[in-house]
Amino acid sequence: MPELTNPYIGLTPRKMNNEELARAIRQDIIAEHDAVALYEAHIDATDDEVAKAIIKHIADEERKHVAEFTALLERLDPDQARLGAEAYKEAEQMMAGVMPMETTQIQQPETQEQDGAPAPAGLTVGSLIGG
Ligand SMILES: [Fe+2]
Repeated sequence: MPELTNPYIGLTPRKMNNEELARAIRQDIIAEHDAVALYEAHIDATDDEVAKAIIKHIADEERKHVAEFTALLERLDPDQARLGAEAYKEAEQMMAGVMPMETTQIQQPETQEQDGAPAPAGLTVGSLIGG
């Protein structure tokens, strides 16, 4: 028996303010991505070309919902929009090779040598992907 989402779990006794609605929209975005992953798994699990085409169409709709929810989230949370725009620009620069991966240093707390083992070096995007 499949486990269905509780339709009442998101109900609140009052209207949400924009901050609360933004949090809810983030959960909605996760649900849309989860649906896409589920539909892609269903496509992989069948050789029925008609079923694949219909499920692919539905998965593409969910991808559009991600974009629509993201646009709404950015309207509700302008700081999210600002941070997202910055991150998008940084990612484009990294992908274009304009910004070297090494400059994308991930902040690490100060570490000290423990049990004679040297403190780990700081992580970079490059070190995380084996570069
Ligand atoms: Fe959707």
